[in-house]
Amino acid sequence: MARHLITSALPYINGIKHLGNMVGSMLPADVYSRYLRQRGHDVLYICATDEHGTPAELAAKEQGLPVAEFCAQAHDAQKAVYDGFALAFDYFGRSSSPENVEITQHFARRLNENGFIEERAIRQVYSPADGRFLPDRYVEGTCPHCGYDKARGDQCENCTRVLDPTDLINPRSAISGSTDLEVRETKHLFLLQSKLQHEVEAWVARHEDDWPQLASSIARKWLNEGLHDRAITRDLDWGVPVPADTWPELAAEGKVFYVWFDAPIEYIGATKEWADQDPANRDWKSWWYEADDTVRYTEFMAKDNVPFHTVMFPATELGVREPWKKVDYVKAFNWLTYYGGKFSTSQKRGVFTDQALAILPADYWRYFLIANAPESDDSSFTWEHFTATVNKDLADTLGNFVNRVLSFSKKRFGEEVPAGGEPGEAEAKLGEEIAALLAEYESHMEALQFRKAAAALRALWSAGNSYLEEKAPWLEIKTNKEGAALTLATAMNLIHLYAVVSEPFIPATAKVMREAFALPQDTATWVTAEEAKALASVPSGTPFTVPPVLFAKLTDEDLETYKERFGGEEG
Ligand code: MF3
Ligand code: ZN
Repeated sequence: MARHLITSALPYINGIKHLGNMVGSMLPADVYSRYLRQRGHDVLYICATDEHGTPAELAAKEQGLPVAEFCAQAHDAQKAVYDGFALAFDYFGRSSSPENVEITQHFARRLNENGFIEERAIRQVYSPADGRFLPDRYVEGTCPHCGYDKARGDQCENCTRVLDPTDLINPRSAISGSTDLEVRETKHLFLLQSKLQHEVEAWVARHEDDWPQLASSIARKWLNEGLHDRAITRDLDWGVPVPADTWPELAAEGKVFYVWFDAPIEYIGATKEWADQDPANRDWKSWWYEADDTVRYTEFMAKDNVPFHTVMFPATELGVREPWKKVDYVKAFNWLTYYGGKFSTSQKRGVFTDQALAILPADYWRYFLIANAPESDDSSFTWEHFTATVNKDLADTLGNFVNRVLSFSKKRFGEEVPAGGEPGEAEAKLGEEIAALLAEYESHMEALQFRKAAAALRALWSAGNSYLEEKAPWLEIKTNKEGAALTLATAMNLIHLYAVVSEPFIPATAKVMREAFALPQDTATWVTAEEAKALASVPSGTPFTVPPVLFAKLTDEDLETYKERFGGEEG
């Protein structure tokens, strides 16, 4: 048994996320966590909302709320959606927590003591009309590279180039619209990443062979470009304050840390939040500080987050010169597109996570998204593909099997698993096949190959269908009642096995399937190869009930409605 620390990139606070966001971080992390828990590992799955920075302040302003209030509400709204998706976090924290403030300030002090932080005077955009500096997205203007006239101070959305607010042509305040802007000098803290370049390189070199290519290639690219010193403070009201004991002047000016400095530290902060809820029984430090070799730390994120997790955050951790746990495995994802294009909030294209849940239960989405996760390349969401997958895999292959077997058995043998004769050749063959597929499924899960794992799971479901077609108990029963009973009892054991091994993907449905059988003990724990082969975990005489249809078939009409509402290929 190992201890698994698992985190997924912290969703930004400013709004409910798209399906694309969830499939590249939280959902696969949840699937993996559930799998490891079922296999008896000690798992700690931590996530949180990422609450600082200009987008949070601007979103709060738009809603006319104080930013703290906005964040509290927006956190609860996101949490409700994740509960709806059955994401089983051990803790879902907030980067604005006192715990994160404390640890972030500690990191900054240590970095400073170790010579990795320097105060530098820099030129920043200042707005006399607003009476403040305008960092990042607080300035808008024309992109110097492509001419796009709504470029933001931190990045141009049109050409994706990273910008500095002073780069913009015809700059204006995003708060007041004022164009009466000046450039003033002000002091900020810089993290001297250039001094850590060699250490980070050596650390990456020790790990990159274990990482998937997507993660290691991005890390390499950033290291090859060289680590630059970067400003880690901002002139904002909302954020982790610069500690006054170390930088009294900057603290008096109200400077706070840049959101990308404190966000990854919140992985640790949220773990402490978790422990602070039950300090007698929870030890956050054992996961993060001087953690022994039994702790394996896996991070989940989309590819745009990889530089921060493979280079910048490790640089911070290394510079602190304390034994903080660093990531062992970086699971990175490409983009999920919507009909090959971008999910777009403004153009109303694509599906938000709350809308998805309003249409269909979580398991439909969980299965589809993981089975089509953008692992080796971008993958495209289309309603055609979604409805076809639901109908084929979930409704026909799994749902129909469960219902057909249980209702037929009930009709002919009553409400207990029937007693059949001795298992024959067909059952032995089935057992071998199931055990082999199960081993395949396990190995893909261990390797965090989610699409392949989904394919193996689907193959397990299909094997049951083939067996049933071959034995055809509805015919068998006319000539060989005992034989038909054996077939049905075997199929019911498959249902139980499916309930256990499908849990990471479709937890709610798996529970319904498990609870169809009145078994005395808790039966969610994993199946051994021996058990899989024997297909005899549910003994004859076990009472069962026939659950309602597990997955509804989606009609052509449904498909048209979805496309109309969310935009289709022509959008
Ligand atoms: N909020 C960031 C994003 O959406 C991710 C932050 S991950 C963390 O891209 F590690 F920095 F917290
Ligand atoms: Zn541009």
